[in-house]
Amino acid sequence: MIRKIVFPMLCGTAIWIAFSSNKQGDSAQQQIASLKDVFKKDFTIGTAMNTPQIEEKDPVTDKLIRQQFNVVTPENIMKAEVIHPQWNEYNFDLADKLVTYGKKNHIGINAHTLIWHSQLPVFARNIKNVDSFRTFFEEHINTVAKRYDGQVVSWDVVNEALNEDGTMRKSIFLNKLGDDFVTDAFRLAAKASPKSELYYNDYNNEQPAKRAGCIRLMKKIQDAGVRIDGVGIQGHWHVGKVPFKDIEESILQYAAMGLKVMFTELDIEVLPRNFQGADVNQRMREDPSMNPYVNGLPDSVQQQLASDYENLFKLFLKHRDKISRVTFWGVNDAQSWLNGWPVRGRTNYPLLFDRENKPKPAFFKVIEAGMNFKRN
Ligand code: G3I
Repeated sequence: MIRKIVFPMLCGTAIWIAFSSNKQGDSAQQQIASLKDVFKKDFTIGTAMNTPQIEEKDPVTDKLIRQQFNVVTPENIMKAEVIHPQWNEYNFDLADKLVTYGKKNHIGINAHTLIWHSQLPVFARNIKNVDSFRTFFEEHINTVAKRYDGQVVSWDVVNEALNEDGTMRKSIFLNKLGDDFVTDAFRLAAKASPKSELYYNDYNNEQPAKRAGCIRLMKKIQDAGVRIDGVGIQGHWHVGKVPFKDIEESILQYAAMGLKVMFTELDIEVLPRNFQGADVNQRMREDPSMNPYVNGLPDSVQQQLASDYENLFKLFLKHRDKISRVTFWGVNDAQSWLNGWPVRGRTNYPLLFDRENKPKPAFFKVIEAGMNFKRN
C-alpha cells in the first residue's frame, strides 16, 4: 500500500513523501526531498555513522543515508581506542570498510579523529615516560593518516584541545608534550597525508572566549608555516537557546583567517541540562524529571526545534560562501549519543529524523529554507 502525504507548498513546489507498508506493517521511506540535493550548491551535508550503519546492518537507515548525505564522519571507529588498541596493533577493518562504502556510494569521508584526550587506548593512557608518549603520538599520526591519505576528504586532526576560557585543556597531550602539541600534530598529519584536508574541531568554539583561544591556537599553526585547512564548530546546542549571534560572528572571524568553516556535529538537545557543550566527562544525576518526553515530544517543543533548525540553516545559507560542510551527529533520534549523555537512558529528539527514520517538522523547515533561498 502506498500512502502519499503532501506537505505545504514551498515556492510553488510540493515536497512529496511516500511511505509504503510491508507485510509486517512497518513503514519504509520510498521518496523524500534530499538534503544533499537541496543544498548541493551551498555546502556538503553529512552525518555521523555508527558501527551497525557502517556494517550496513539496517537497510532502511542505509537507504536514508545514501539518499540524504554526501559526506559521513565515523562516530567512533577511527578514534585511537578502536583503531590503535595496542602499541604495535592497529585495527583497520571498520575504517577500511567505511572507505569502501564511501567509494561505492560516492560519499566523502571526514575522518575523526587523530588526537583527542578521550577514547584513548588504555596502553597510551598508562605511558609514563615522555619520550615513549611522543613515540606513540608520532607513530599514531604517521600510521593512521598515511593509510587513508587521499582516501578520506579530510581529518579532524586535533579535537577539543581547549577549555571554555580559551586556555589549553590540561589533557595528557598537553601534560606530556607541552603547548606545541597541536602544531606538531598538524605538521605530522600534513606530511603523512598531503592529499587530505586538515581541520581543528571543538565544541562551544563559537562562544567568544573559547573562540578567541581557538583563533590563537590556529594562528599559531599558520604562523609556524604548517598547513591547516579548516575549523569545525561542533554545534551541540540546546532548543530555544541556539547562540545565533555568536555563531555568525564566528563564521566571519574564522573565515577571515582563510579557513574553511564547518558545522561538524550538529544536534539540538531538547531535554533538561544545566550546562552547555559536549564535555564527555560531565555527567548529571539520573532522575525521572530529567527525562520528561518518554512518550513523545510535545508539539510546542517540536515547533521550537523546527524553528531553531530553520533559522540555523537560513544563517548557514547567508554565509554559504564561507561554509563548506554541515554534518549532523547521527542519522536519527534513536542513534543519538544524547540519549545516553549527560544522563543515561533518556529519550531525546535532537535530529531531523525520528526513531523510525521518518522526517520530522524540522526536516521540512530545513528543506523549505533551502528551496526558498534565492541563489544568484
Ligand atoms: O565500544 C564499547 C563497546 O565495546 C561496549 O559494548 C559498549 C557498551 O556501552 O560501549 C562501547 O563504547 C561506547 C562508544 O561510544 C561506542 O558505542 C562508549 O561507552 C561511549 O561512551 C561512546 O560514546 C561516544 C562518545 O563520543 C565517547 O566519547 C559517542 O558514541 C560519540 O557520539 C561521542 O562523539 C563525540 C565526538 O567524537 C567528539 N565531540 C563530542 C561528541 C559527543 O560526545
